[in-house]
Amino acid sequence: MDFISEDIENYAYEHTEAENPLLEALEKETYETLEIPQMTTGRIEGRFLKLLAQLIGAKRILEIGTFGGYGTLSMAEALPADGTLVTCDVDPVAIAFARKYFAKSGHGHKITLLEGPALESLKALPGPFDMAFIDADKENYLNYYEAILPLMRQGGLIVADNVLWSGRVLNPIDSSDKAIHKFNQTIRQDSRVEPVMLTVRDGIYCIRKR
Ligand SMILES: C[S@@+](CC[C@H](N)C(=O)[O-])C[C@H]1O[C@@H](n2cnc3c(N)ncnc32)[C@H](O)[C@@H]1O
Repeated sequence: MDFISEDIENYAYEHTEAENPLLEALEKETYETLEIPQMTTGRIEGRFLKLLAQLIGAKRILEIGTFGGYGTLSMAEALPADGTLVTCDVDPVAIAFARKYFAKSGHGHKITLLEGPALESLKALPGPFDMAFIDADKENYLNYYEAILPLMRQGGLIVADNVLWSGRVLNPIDSSDKAIHKFNQTIRQDSRVEPVMLTVRDGIYCIRKR
């Protein structure tokens, strides 16, 4: 389901700062070579993630779900030279692709890519983080949230992608639909956080730790 018309989406795209040429090349190659390329965050969400990281002065960022590395490099741009970003993925093809682009980027030295199931990687990860981006398997969103929240600093920001799940949250049928809906309901009732759900792209939940 497209929440807004293609014309309006294009208008917003054209009125958003362009990504740098390396990210443009990454996106192009993602669409040419990776499976399910529409998983990549792209310009509007990528610039938005960068903006959020800049606004909160992030120095340590965590990402669950690297894919081709578009979101990773977008957020890494916002980090100071000594800032760090840890990103997790299970897919060897996506990991090799992302590593290739991290190596070409002037921000690549800030990034550590952890291979394997993110819930396992999280067990050994010390906090505190200023910002986290949850963008992997939907069934585990709540598990990621519960594992990540204690690692966030007070005032830290968790951003969760695809929380409208193409509108399927209104009538959850399969396990992914139900998991996203349960995640959204849990966040709404959690007094530890201040949540704002945006209807940008497939729904972006911005969750500030009190
Ligand atoms: C929507 S894509 C991530 C998009 C990426 N954040 C971006 O900005 O372009 C989801 C990714 O989550 C990864 N993934 C799925 N299950 C996972 C798991 N259990 N642990 C870590 N990564 C996982 C997939 O391999 C896939 O690359």
